[in-house]
Amino acid sequence: MAPRRKKIYEGKAKILYEGPEPGTIVQYFKDDATAGNGQKKATIEGKGVLNNRLCEFFMMGLQNVGIPTHFLRRLNMREQLVRQVEIIPLEVIVRNFAAGSIAKRLGMEEGTALPRPIVEYSYKNDALGDPLVPEEYIIAFGWANQQDLDDIVSLALRVNDFLAGVFYGVGIKLVDFKIEIGRVWDGDFMRLVVADEISPDSCRLWDIKTGEHLDKDVFRRDLGSLTDAYSEVARRLGVLPTNPEPTKPTLIN
Ligand SMILES: Nc1ncnc2c1ncn2[C@@H]1O[C@H](COP(=O)(O)OP(=O)(O)OP(=O)(O)O)[C@@H](O)[C@H]1O
Ligand SMILES: [Mg+2]
Repeated sequence: MAPRRKKIYEGKAKILYEGPEPGTIVQYFKDDATAGNGQKKATIEGKGVLNNRLCEFFMMGLQNVGIPTHFLRRLNMREQLVRQVEIIPLEVIVRNFAAGSIAKRLGMEEGTALPRPIVEYSYKNDALGDPLVPEEYIIAFGWANQQDLDDIVSLALRVNDFLAGVFYGVGIKLVDFKIEIGRVWDGDFMRLVVADEISPDSCRLWDIKTGEHLDKDVFRRDLGSLTDAYSEVARRLGVLPTNPEPTKPTLIN
């Protein structure tokens, strides 16, 4: 039996537990899926396992190219150990092609290429439905200062370059994604790191050839099986362990 752990927070997709050492937390990936700020809900068997794996793959990849993240290591099928950070209460969204809210707001057809990657922010507040906020609000309300925002934009664009390249290599178009950024303190010094998760829950991924959706829109828009879509992403990235040959009994003589 695993030792009892203190639950810090339970969100829509993950549970946070106190980690084994101070300053660490365990992120447990649930099978729950929500859309429209929790209005649509379901349990999708296997989603948590896939997202834990995929998130590990992206976070390690980012670290390998020098982009700091909260990720420490994967613990098991559903859990990863991360550094505890002070989350900046923003969803940092990067868009390469129009889809979802920007398409609606500006009357653009989904899939239209944007002139350059666009970074936008929404204020993390479920009760308000995570409203879009301009930099002016972020600075005025003290969620981040101008220096932080400059750093956040460059971090977000580096993550975009990395992810877009990785996905392009396996025939997937990175339409948009969102990340959360955390502050890590080293004495008086503060660094910004990529926190929370990167998974098909937080990206829009379209097959380059067919345009098929391989992300949470499959659930939001009832386009088929979400686990099939996420498994396809994992399989293409080489993240999904291929089924081992069933073991045959060995005769010992
Ligand atoms: N390294 C970290 N340290 C502290 N908190 C973190 C870290 N990484 C992610 N979090 C926070 O943990 C929570 C993860 O849970 P989940 O994604 O299920 O939340 P949620 O239902 O989406 O709600 P929220 O609106 O708070 O994101 C989020 O609130 C996220 O901001
Ligand atoms: Mg979340």
